[in-house]
Amino acid sequence: MKFHILTFGCQMNVNDSDWLARALTVQGHEAAAEDQAEVFILNTCSVRDKPEQKVYSELGRLRGYLDANPAIFAAVAGCVAQQIGQKLCEKFPFVRLVLGPDGLRHAPAALEELAEHPDRRLVLTEFLDRFEEREQAWPELAEPEAAPRTAFVNIMQGCDNFCTYCIVPFVRGRQKSRPPKAILSECQALLERGVREITLLGQNVNSFGSDASGMGVSFAQLLHQVAALSELDRLRFTTSHPKDIAPEVIRAFGELENLAPHLHLPLQSGSDRILARMGRKYDRARYLAIVDGLRQARPDIVLGTDLIVGFPGETEEDFDQTLAMVERVGFESSYSFKYSDRPGTAAERMPEKVDSQVAQGRLLRLQDLQNTITRNSLKNCVGREAVVLYEGLSRVQVGAGVFWQGRDPSFRIVNVEHPKGLKLAGKLQTVRVTQAKKHSLMGEGIGRPW
Ligand code: 5AD
Ligand code: SF4
Repeated sequence: MKFHILTFGCQMNVNDSDWLARALTVQGHEAAAEDQAEVFILNTCSVRDKPEQKVYSELGRLRGYLDANPAIFAAVAGCVAQQIGQKLCEKFPFVRLVLGPDGLRHAPAALEELAEHPDRRLVLTEFLDRFEEREQAWPELAEPEAAPRTAFVNIMQGCDNFCTYCIVPFVRGRQKSRPPKAILSECQALLERGVREITLLGQNVNSFGSDASGMGVSFAQLLHQVAALSELDRLRFTTSHPKDIAPEVIRAFGELENLAPHLHLPLQSGSDRILARMGRKYDRARYLAIVDGLRQARPDIVLGTDLIVGFPGETEEDFDQTLAMVERVGFESSYSFKYSDRPGTAAERMPEKVDSQVAQGRLLRLQDLQNTITRNSLKNCVGREAVVLYEGLSRVQVGAGVFWQGRDPSFRIVNVEHPKGLKLAGKLQTVRVTQAKKHSLMGEGIGRPW
């Protein structure tokens, strides 16, 4: 079977799609370009902006291929699949498989079954009450040099927080922690395949272990166990909820040398009133205390965040407090979003909706401020040295050589020019930063890559 996967949304989905591609490859199927595919798999996201419409318009677009060959069919996976379920098949007859996040592990077998039996359809949107292991799939590498050096390892599914704006608990189900033994053995397998950087992944990693499938290992303990695996150069984790970050996790930034000095810590709003309405269960003072603790443990730590503007009831004064917090913390990067109603959430039912134009104006002001902070922060890096882990070629290529792109320990993108013909993906190199761009750095290599 020739398959083509289209992925939307967060890193969880990217990771799920990567697994599915590997699992199908191991079973003898082949990834193919869109116009060659026999089956399409859409891995969907429903966190913001008209996501259902996006899925419908993608399916509408793909229908062209299906008209040409009726044997072609589509599968819809992920959060929109969970939300809409069976109705997707009714609306689009060529959608023959619908998989919620907990059903994804059945995708390889289900796709084979459907290819063999053109009259069948499957809808797998049941939630499981514990973390089910997926078959680990490691295809043989034709060229070990081409193996990825950075990897994501899922440590939990779902979320129990019910922040009032968020659809995740509805589409990803309750929190289920993965057994630490399975996490460690996947990390070990990745390291044996040459991976140098691992990011532990979950909706709310800080509450790892606290649910019914937890095994008495806290997130801080898990961090220590993973960090101790030999050959691991860099360890990261995402995403964190400030209310759950334990003092031991904050201290780990000062204790674990390979725990990278970068943390994405969603603030969402700088107003205590709005934070309470969002059901976030922390206030500005608590958030600032965490930031102080992190900086004490690791003075060079770089912070990023997520922010929502125009949450129901947000006044100009509330918004000013968000601006003030962004300035005070000095986030080096932030993702900011205009609030949008998600079906079934508590905020959807709040009456005081902010006018879309007003929210748009706030978003632009916030992004302006962030751009200034980012620029200053990146400028401060000029002249400093950093170790870069190269990921691939830079998007923009100018001049005689070749620009390679990688990340420094603090997750900053660094572009470095090298002679043509080198294979640097997965290599580390000490680099001197020569220039700051709007969202990235330029540097020159000093010393040999290793
Ligand atoms: N409206 C706008 N942004 C949202 N996010 C989550 N739900 C919504 C919503 N209803 C944002 C949050 C979260 C990020 C993944 O998406 O900032 O951290
Ligand atoms: Fe989107 Fe959230 Fe689902 Fe990720 S978990 S794909 S962000 S809705």
